[in-house]
Amino acid sequence: MKVPLLDLTREYAFIKADLFNNLEVIFSSQSFILGKHVKELEDNLKEFLGVYDVVGVSSGTDALLISLMALGVSRGDEVIVPSFTFFATASSVVRVGATPVFADIDPLTYNIDVNDIEKKISSKTKCIIPVHLYGNPCNIEEIVKLSNDKGISVIEDNAQAIGAEYGGKKTGSFGIMGCLSFYPTKNLGGAGDGGAISVNDEKLSKIVRMLRVHGSEKRYYHDYIGINGRLDEIQACYINLRFRRINQNNEERRNIAKKYNSLLSDLENSELLFTPKENVNSKHVYHQYTVRVPKYRDDLKKFLYDNGIGTEVYYPLPLHLQKCFSELGYKKGSLPNTEKAASEVLSLPIFPGLTDDEIFYVVDNIKKFFRR
Ligand SMILES: Cc1ncc(COP(=O)(O)O)c(C=O)c1O
Repeated sequence: MKVPLLDLTREYAFIKADLFNNLEVIFSSQSFILGKHVKELEDNLKEFLGVYDVVGVSSGTDALLISLMALGVSRGDEVIVPSFTFFATASSVVRVGATPVFADIDPLTYNIDVNDIEKKISSKTKCIIPVHLYGNPCNIEEIVKLSNDKGISVIEDNAQAIGAEYGGKKTGSFGIMGCLSFYPTKNLGGAGDGGAISVNDEKLSKIVRMLRVHGSEKRYYHDYIGINGRLDEIQACYINLRFRRINQNNEERRNIAKKYNSLLSDLENSELLFTPKENVNSKHVYHQYTVRVPKYRDDLKKFLYDNGIGTEVYYPLPLHLQKCFSELGYKKGSLPNTEKAASEVLSLPIFPGLTDDEIFYVVDNIKKFFRR
């Protein structure tokens, strides 16, 4: 048997017929950019997230960039970010000329540690970008409270967590802005690159809408220096079709996680492997099902690969130790929980359509590895 880390083809059958009907209309009209499908997607997400506005953009990376530009974050400002995240969370900060300040993580959830954020706040801190890593909400309420007290803005990096909840409220609706990615592998993936910004402020929503089209509201009249950050109709059409199953798919992911948790509990009891942990008041949407393997992680990964099972390490080298950030002066040991996680995490196959037989096969092989 072979079990891939992700198989998107299993969901495709649900949307295929509608997709080709819609594509025919798009191609016949030759209307490809910022049209009715983008508007429909923005309306769908605005209602789903419960926010003032949602603006479709060209990628999750551009969503972060535009959000920082809209807040006027620039040279001399500091932005607190986790180091245990995808590169774009921090690179967007550098692209607006500001300095990323890396905070450590909570070793149980792998999400940014609120106590470390507090320690790293300085007079230059303009913004915090917490990430809901793997689809697991971070302590967003505490972070927003802390930042409100200090007059700092919060942009949620919600790229991996569409549909996740904290205290019954959707992630992406807590900060002044939230960033979504529609990269194909995401829980709401597109047929290429795409993203969106959820905005909780009328004035900022106008600015964000302008920034995605070169800072202009009226064509060829520019109030700001923006970017070409538009979302295509073809993408939006595909994402709208996949959006119809988002709740169902997230529930399916949660059920798969429950099965893994119970099947792996004996390994957890013998401290060979630790299953993901969810806060009591939050709802994880398992973009990734990531276990911690304190010893032999890389050997286990290889063993599973040899037995036809796809796994991945998100992320093997923390951002504070990346070559491109070396001038910031972080060293090995600067963020101990982050560095430990990077050497121990392993994401197992999880996606809508994963069968029980496949789950059993993955678990059986993990157990076989530890019995060797
Ligand atoms: C946490 C996080 N932030 C930002 C991004 C960037 O999104 P995109 O790939 O759509 O630019 C991603 C996606 O890979 C991500 O996982």
